[in-house]
Amino acid sequence: MHSKKLLLRLLRQYPLLVVLTILLGFAGALFNGVGTILIVPILLELLGQASNLSDQLPPILQQTLGAFDAVPDNYRLLAMALAVVSLIILKNLSSYVGSLTSGALNRKLSTSLRLEGLRLLLDVDLAYYSTTRAGDLINHLNVEVNRTTIAIRTLARLVISIVTIFVFIVFLLLTSWQLTLVAGTALGLVALISQAAIRQARSFGQQLSYLSKEYSTRIVEILTGIRLVKSTANEEMEYETVQQLVAEREDAEYRSQLLFAGIGPINEVCSMIALMGVAAIGRLVVGGQVEAFSSILLTYLIVLFRMIPFIGQLNGGRGQLANVLPSVLIVSEFLRREDKPFMSSGNHTYTPLQKEIHFNHLSFRYPGHNEHVLNRVNLHLKRGTTLALVGASGAGKSTLADLLPRFYDPTDGKIEIDGRDLKEFDIKSFRKI
Ligand SMILES: Nc1ncnc2c1ncn2[C@@H]1O[C@H](COP(=O)(O)OP(=O)(O)OP(=O)(O)O)[C@@H](O)[C@H]1O
Ligand SMILES: [Mg+2]
Repeated sequence: MHSKKLLLRLLRQYPLLVVLTILLGFAGALFNGVGTILIVPILLELLGQASNLSDQLPPILQQTLGAFDAVPDNYRLLAMALAVVSLIILKNLSSYVGSLTSGALNRKLSTSLRLEGLRLLLDVDLAYYSTTRAGDLINHLNVEVNRTTIAIRTLARLVISIVTIFVFIVFLLLTSWQLTLVAGTALGLVALISQAAIRQARSFGQQLSYLSKEYSTRIVEILTGIRLVKSTANEEMEYETVQQLVAEREDAEYRSQLLFAGIGPINEVCSMIALMGVAAIGRLVVGGQVEAFSSILLTYLIVLFRMIPFIGQLNGGRGQLANVLPSVLIVSEFLRREDKPFMSSGNHTYTPLQKEIHFNHLSFRYPGHNEHVLNRVNLHLKRGTTLALVGASGAGKSTLADLLPRFYDPTDGKIEIDGRDLKEFDIKSFRKI
């Protein structure tokens, strides 16, 4: 799919920032995870349960606690509390620096997208402009590029959520694989419920892109044809057409908002139900040994509880991405060079005319048209002479003049400058004269 290719190509331009963003996301997730599981022994200690349960703690906790063995008993609780606070500070520091790197990545990518679009518009052949509406192009450069930038930002956030969830799942698996099986199934169901909303988000996104394109095109048409609009007293009709487009767009935006605002709460409610389910089923699965069960379940539920907002972020982000992906597709189609006309340039530097310009049995028809505008024109233009073209409107005078700066190439025959085909000259050196 083109849209994914475009995103990958863009991201590949800034490997350092991409790697940094992902690494910081990973570090944040790790600090978050370790900080979270360390809360369990502190709680147990505060509840006066620590000595009873130290043997039954999940292995991952026992290993983590091993790090505190060297600390004297009296200070162990304080040391653990300090460790939790430090880890949470580190986690937030990573998130902060991570949001700076992903912000920088985002700004660089949106600048490079805009400039790439502008470069294409300047490079592409005039024929492209006769088949493309100016409103579409302005819309591509503004609205669609903006939405593509949102796609990149959302993608960065999604990657961080996925990395975090992955780290948490490893912790959950190390605590109890049985409970993880139950929780995984339940949270998979939550993701499945979000799937319908995500599909809907994509269709709203397509609708938004279509309406914004129509709006831009209409505005540009009104502005470029304002004399005609006024001379035919059509102001009211134009107003109503645009008003209709604006109203439809507002409606699509409202419905998108309804959807996005809904994904979070639905996710949270479903996830809490899943959490309760895990607690209930967990009791059945490992409930035999009540003491061991309580420490494992406590660790488990706290980690799961910390993970749930990231699941919400993941599902919300998927919806957001689906909503802006149609714009990524539009931008990647717009930036494709293979399907657009470009004037090939020769490599002979142009030197001032010596003898003559020769329109050598030249024929021309406009791209996409069947009739010839010029048919086997043979014309010698000696240096220093002046030529006046006379003919009815539509006879082809402007077209003939347009072939000289190579706005178009002849369909047959050629133009020769001092005997050399115009196509052999470096196009810029020739036009600059
Ligand atoms: N961009 C275009 N795409 C398709 N057809 C075109 C395009 N520009 C001009 N034509 C057609 O080519 C023919 C020649 O047009 P051209 O503008 O060269 O005539 P002209 O002699 O300059 O007329 P005028 O005296 O009105 O300026 C006309 O039939 C016109 O409709
Ligand atoms: Mg003309």
